[in-house]
Amino acid sequence: MRKKIIAGNWKMNKTPLEAVTFAKDLKAKLSGSSGPAGGSVPAGSSGPTGGSGPEVVFCVPFVSLIPVIEALEGSNIAVGAQNMHAEDSGAFTGEISAEMLTSIGVSHVIIGHSERREYFAETDASVNKKVLKAIAAGLAPIVCVGETLTQREQGITIDLVRMQVRIALGGVPASDARGLVIAYEPIWAIGTGRAATKDDAQEVCRAIRQIVRELYDEETAQALRVQYGGSVNAKNAAELFNMPDIDGGLVGGASIKPEFESIVKGA
Ligand code: 13P
Repeated sequence: MRKKIIAGNWKMNKTPLEAVTFAKDLKAKLSGSSGPAGGSVPAGSSGPTGGSGPEVVFCVPFVSLIPVIEALEGSNIAVGAQNMHAEDSGAFTGEISAEMLTSIGVSHVIIGHSERREYFAETDASVNKKVLKAIAAGLAPIVCVGETLTQREQGITIDLVRMQVRIALGGVPASDARGLVIAYEPIWAIGTGRAATKDDAQEVCRAIRQIVRELYDEETAQALRVQYGGSVNAKNAAELFNMPDIDGGLVGGASIKPEFESIVKGA
């Protein structure tokens, strides 16, 4: 049984002070509702050190990482970055390395979000480099894939997503692929209030698991977690996350609102 994973992508929102206030509030409200990262949870355990709920991750802006990690100490809520550079160090002005992230206690990193692909020229090839580096550094990547509205209308969604996954996972051994999270985020559903239907989301998430099965084996396909993202809210989260191949969500707008509590509790 795969553990659900609900990640909040805060995007470019909240100052560090606002981030800490929000994180502390959610920490109190979710105490006992979030489970530790991955793996199994001892039966009957609950409370801030052993919740049996989903794995919860706050992916916050770089400047808020340290204060939010400190604010969430003693909880099961993990903290992730929204991007990283593929090189270890060097003349890359404005960039952040994987080691910088792990050194402060960051456990997850979003890689290849469609906004980074669109506005910062990220490609499947650069996503692959980052995935390999994140794994080598001990970060858990949340790899984003998804189609535009035009691509959906052209009927190429599944082919496109299969290609994105195949390139992103190039050179990743099965043992590491099992720990990966792939977030299926149809671009037309992001920030539009128009989420995919549970059946459309399930169809693509199932296809993602199928390509993982073809690239690796059944065990890897069953272990790897696939999230849905795009206008997830407190009303639609539970029905999306209950689909057989959807193991939770990558939540944008609703992750920085109090309704994130219901989204996590619904899972
Ligand atoms: P929204 O939930 O605001 O649609 O954003 C989804 C997203 O891009 C998460 O990464």
